[in-house]
Amino acid sequence: MQLPRNMSRADFLKQYWQKKPLLIKQAFPNYQSLISPEELAGLACEEGIESRILQEHEQTGAWQLRYGPFTEKDFTSLPKSHWSLLVQAVNHHIPELNNLLNEFDFVPDWRVDDIMISYAPIHGSVGPHLDNYDVFLLQAQGRRHWHINEHDYTEDDFIEGLELKLLSDFKSAQDWILEPGDMLYLPPGVAHHGIALDDCLTYSIGFRAPSQKELLSAYTVNFNDVAKDQYYTDPHLELQDSPGEIKTEHIRAMREMIVSAITDEADFASWFGRFITEDMHHYETEQHELTRHDFSQQFKQAGHLNRQGNIRFSYIEDVNKLRFFYAGNELDCTPDQLHLVRYLCSAHKLEYQTILKLANEDSVLALLHSLYQEGCFYFDE
Ligand code: SIN
Ligand code: CO
Repeated sequence: MQLPRNMSRADFLKQYWQKKPLLIKQAFPNYQSLISPEELAGLACEEGIESRILQEHEQTGAWQLRYGPFTEKDFTSLPKSHWSLLVQAVNHHIPELNNLLNEFDFVPDWRVDDIMISYAPIHGSVGPHLDNYDVFLLQAQGRRHWHINEHDYTEDDFIEGLELKLLSDFKSAQDWILEPGDMLYLPPGVAHHGIALDDCLTYSIGFRAPSQKELLSAYTVNFNDVAKDQYYTDPHLELQDSPGEIKTEHIRAMREMIVSAITDEADFASWFGRFITEDMHHYETEQHELTRHDFSQQFKQAGHLNRQGNIRFSYIEDVNKLRFFYAGNELDCTPDQLHLVRYLCSAHKLEYQTILKLANEDSVLALLHSLYQEGCFYFDE
């Protein structure tokens, strides 16, 4: 990715990330989309792939939202303008798209959500709205006219009774026409409206920011699985004047019972690594039944091994311990495996030769074989 002239990645984080929008002209010079509108429509017809069609009535401006999977007829009966097709997490289904994510490696992998791709003919848009996450909007084909407004909108500013949260009175404060390879960065909460000027494909590289509510509820579910019942005790209970009062020290003791559930840093780190690498879509994984020997042979012959599009890898370096996380699981590694683990996390396509340089052949092939059996990797057809 090419940031504007003289801007380093560190400058971007300091000045723009989570702070203000940035238009990056020709971030990807001569960018060619990895997917065509027809292929995108094909994905939207598949079971298990999340997709939506948003249509705006040309005369009344009324919005209609439909969810996939769609049929070919759904597409052939659409008008020539004023609609958009949105397909979620396309990188999960087209793993090659994950190479694009490497271009955003100035943000840690665990912050990355996925790549949504939209297609729209002329006048197609998803309406003026805001998102709660950071997003890079990469123009992959055609041109789109983006309008933004950094005004602080409130709940009252949205159209009532609509399933979609669209702003009722959006006014453009700044606008740009994006061409293939141009990209617009938006921090959370900046209102935006992108209208297609011709057949256009836009990639939304979205980042995830867990909410307190999400963390608490996920942690509680996990805690239920691992915690032993621990009951409140009060052997030093003192006589109180009025039994109706709940004393401050009792409230504190209760709060402490909850807080103590997350005070062990190592346990918490382990939970977080598993939580953040989990595959929330729960796709059906294919059965991989190669023996260890056959797997090693195939890897050697192919020269590389691909990570499935939906599989997240991360690691945490602790004192004397290296925790490797894959798809919601944890594997404890030794500190001398750091180079290998860093490579596993950064490469979506593992090179056999590189792997051999980073670790003992037998042990690394055993590790990769078990990850392969669990559905983390695939070989080219
Ligand atoms: C689009 O691709 O049309 C919309 C993406 C967005 O607004 O987040
Ligand atoms: Co948006």
